[in-house]
Amino acid sequence: MLEVKNLQAFYGESIILKNINLDVQEGRIVCLLGRNGVGKSTFLKSIMGLVNTPCGSIRLQGREIIDQPTYARARAGIGYVPQGRDIFPHISVKENLQLGLEVNNGKGSIPTEVYELFPILKEMLSRKGGNLSGGQQQQLAIARALTARPKLLMFDEPTEGIQPSIIKDIGKVILHLKKEGYTILIVEQYLEFILDIADYYYVMDKGTIVAQGFVCDMDKETIQHKISI
Ligand SMILES: Nc1ncnc2c1ncn2[C@@H]1O[C@H](COP(=O)(O)OP(=O)(O)OP(=O)(O)O)[C@@H](O)[C@H]1O
Ligand SMILES: [Mg+2]
Repeated sequence: MLEVKNLQAFYGESIILKNINLDVQEGRIVCLLGRNGVGKSTFLKSIMGLVNTPCGSIRLQGREIIDQPTYARARAGIGYVPQGRDIFPHISVKENLQLGLEVNNGKGSIPTEVYELFPILKEMLSRKGGNLSGGQQQQLAIARALTARPKLLMFDEPTEGIQPSIIKDIGKVILHLKKEGYTILIVEQYLEFILDIADYYYVMDKGTIVAQGFVCDMDKETIQHKISI
């Protein structure tokens, strides 16, 4: 589904991603682990076309997208749930959801699946985004990404700042989305969360990939050590 080869990313003159090779096979949940500041979010932003990436290749379903603008990548089927969620606080839940439709020029309607997954959002449609709890905002951010009907979903630290019971719910939702046929890439620092849901993992350090493998074969202690401060 997603093949990244020899990717470099820069902020100004500073090189942040050095030579990243990472694949997400169709139907899998792949996780990118790493400490604070190693370049995980920069990687997802690179996939979305939000960062300068002068070298490398990003293929989505076999098609090169590295020179495409962000909206074209979203339209090609990449859904992105950013770190911190980026919910618009002063507009309603419904309006936040409708923003997801803009990917397809505002055409279509909010899929009913969204309300089946997150019944709480249906009850809160007229509430302001900023009045939702952290967990509810995370649900809204996932729902907004689904509204655009993507094929590949990318989550940036979906458990950050969220209470444990809601983290479990988010894990269940991600597994459900896999069953529904979505391909999923998750950036995380919380190892326990991904052990239950991911198929394959990569570990990033200082802008390079330093370990990778199937989660079922993972040496938990070694990986925990690589991602701890
Ligand atoms: N807009 C920016 N301009 C310049 N440097 C940036 C910018 N955003 C991030 N950086 C730097 O790039 C590096 C990688 O940051 P990034 O946000 O990708 O890390 P991360 O792995 O997502 O960290 P965290 O776990 O804290 O979210 C850091 O050194 C950071 O200071
Ligand atoms: Mg980050």
